[in-house]
Amino acid sequence: DSADKGGYRHFMLKEIFEQPAVVKNTLQGRLGSDHILEQSFGNGASDILDKVQSVQIVACGTSYHAGMVAKYWIEGIAGIPCRVEVASEFRYRKFVVSPGTLLVTISQSGETADTLAALRLAKELDYCATLTVCNVAQSSLVRESDLALMTEAGPEIGVASTKAFTTQLTALLILTVALGRRYAIDKVKEAAIVSALHSLPGTLATALELDDEICGIAETFADKHHALFLGRGIQWPIAMEGALKLKEISYIHAESYPAGELKHGPLALVDDDMPVVAVAPNDELLEKLKSNLEEVQARGGQLYVFADKQAGFKNESGLTVIPVPHSEEIVAPILYTLPLQLLSYHVAVFKGTDVDQPRNLAKSVTVE
Ligand code: AGP
Repeated sequence: DSADKGGYRHFMLKEIFEQPAVVKNTLQGRLGSDHILEQSFGNGASDILDKVQSVQIVACGTSYHAGMVAKYWIEGIAGIPCRVEVASEFRYRKFVVSPGTLLVTISQSGETADTLAALRLAKELDYCATLTVCNVAQSSLVRESDLALMTEAGPEIGVASTKAFTTQLTALLILTVALGRRYAIDKVKEAAIVSALHSLPGTLATALELDDEICGIAETFADKHHALFLGRGIQWPIAMEGALKLKEISYIHAESYPAGELKHGPLALVDDDMPVVAVAPNDELLEKLKSNLEEVQARGGQLYVFADKQAGFKNESGLTVIPVPHSEEIVAPILYTLPLQLLSYHVAVFKGTDVDQPRNLAKSVTVE
């Protein structure tokens, strides 16, 4: 058993540390020196992508969070309308399908009942095509979709999804470029994204060097009952994923908010017993985020900020800064995921929970 864990104490930790390698595997065969290779998506991919005018993403749990990140990329960079919905809601709702809409499912297992039902429903409707971002080649979602963009994460054993998520994001960024080169992404922009993707595995490896430092702060979470995760813009879904990870393996109630929403309610929860985790890359929303965090500090909240080294945060009373290596802004959501995974992992280990098999949860939810 411990041999399968490659010397790591838990599968989850092994899978966290595999991320530089599996992200590299996911890029393999899909990138040229300055462009992406869209024929690697499957037969007839280019003809299908030519028809796409908008995107509907459907997924559950962590895979849904990957879809939320993709929405920022597809609308913000590719310039194409994109909607995202959890599959369990999508399948029971009446909605309007705009002409030329590509239905994208995202799933590690390819067998999640709600996501599969959403795909089957969509095939009866007027979507121009279906594409799945999936980790299991023989799965129902792959078999039943027109196109499959495989993530190359390898088997994920820990119930808490880690490497599946970051490889999904990698694949979705490639998809964004494939769609966007027909809209708002020109050759220069495409080359810049491809260059950021080429250096991504190395950047992820440097983030894993934070492991000891994160282990050092995790103990302060172990006796807490609640935690708040904050991000802004594309980092909000990363905060959502951080909160989901903490709840599912450490059983600490965690909520995520886009930081600008604090004053509309959740600020009332903040006191000196409430750890508040924030993701703060050096992007255009940094100054806005800083002023949101000052509101937390003023109420005695204990802040843990995962911040770009150039973002100007300093350790002080009530504020612990965990410096994250600098990266290209486009791949920052993938990078900031790793320290949040490590935080949840170490908190769960301090609490003594069953990290790889958390109570009440199954790895693949194949029944409704
Ligand atoms: C996350 O850590 C979960 N275990 C869960 O949310 C998972 O992502 C969800 O059940 C979807 O699974 P899938 O990716 O296999 O479809």
